[in-house]
Amino acid sequence: IAAALGNGPLRGRRIVVTSGPTHEPIDPVRYIANRSSGAQGAAIGAALAALGAEVIFVTGPAEVPPPAGVEVVAVDTAAEMRAAVHEALPADAAIFAAAVADWRMKTARAEKIKKTPDGLPDLALEENPDILAEVAAGPDRPGLVVGFAAETENVVENATAKRARKGCDWILANDVSPATGIMGGRDNAVTLITDEGAEAWERMGKDAVARRLAERVARALGPVGA
Ligand code: CTP
Ligand code: CA
Repeated sequence: IAAALGNGPLRGRRIVVTSGPTHEPIDPVRYIANRSSGAQGAAIGAALAALGAEVIFVTGPAEVPPPAGVEVVAVDTAAEMRAAVHEALPADAAIFAAAVADWRMKTARAEKIKKTPDGLPDLALEENPDILAEVAAGPDRPGLVVGFAAETENVVENATAKRARKGCDWILANDVSPATGIMGGRDNAVTLITDEGAEAWERMGKDAVARRLAERVARALGPVGA
C-alpha cells in the first residue's frame, strides 16, 4: 500500500537491475547461453518497485516474464546488455542478477553452419565484457553495486574473492550445484557477502530473498536527500 501511495522507502531512488541469461549467437539458429530462468532477477525487480524504486530492468531472454511496475529493456546479448546498462546510468544502485554468457563467438556466422565430412566447425570464442566489473570501476558507479556469484564449490571463498576482484559492495553467493536443486527451482539459499563478512540466509523462496535484499538496499541507501 505504501508503494501504491508512492511512499515506499525507495521512493525517488533509481535502481538498475540485470536479469536472465544472455544469448550469444553462433549462427542464425544456434546460440551459447547459461541456464537461467530469470526468476530471481524478476523477483528483485518486483521487490524494489514495491518499495517505491524506479527500476530499470535490463533483461535477457528469460523464461519468467518481467515484473509489473518496472521499465523493461529487453536485450539478447551481453554486448546489448552492457550498452543498455550504461545507457541507464547514473543510478543510486545497480543489482546484477543476470547470468551473462562468459564467451561469445569471435565472429558469429551469417549462415547456418552445415555438417561437412571435413570435420568440426571452427567455434573460436572470445570473452564477453564483464558488465559488473566495468560499472563498479567506471565513472558512473552507483553508490551501491550488488553482484551475484553462482558457484558449485567453495561458495563463500570463491564469492569473497569475486567481490574483491569485481569491486562490488555486496555479493549474493549461491550454491548452484545440481544437488541443491536451486537452478530452475522456487527456492534460493544465498550468503550475503559485504565488507563485514559473510551472512548466510536460511533457504527461502526467491521472492523472500528478493524482499530481504530490497529492504537491505533501502536501509543502505537511507532516506532520499539525507
Ligand atoms: N557479470 C556481468 N558480466 C559478465 C559476467 C558476469 O555483469 N560478463 C556479473 C553477473 O551478473 C554476476 C557477477 O558478475 O552478478 C558474477 O557472475 P559470475 O558468472 O558468477 O562471475 P564470473 O566473473 O563470470 O566468474 P566465473 O563464471 O568464472 O565464476
Ligand atoms: Ca560467469
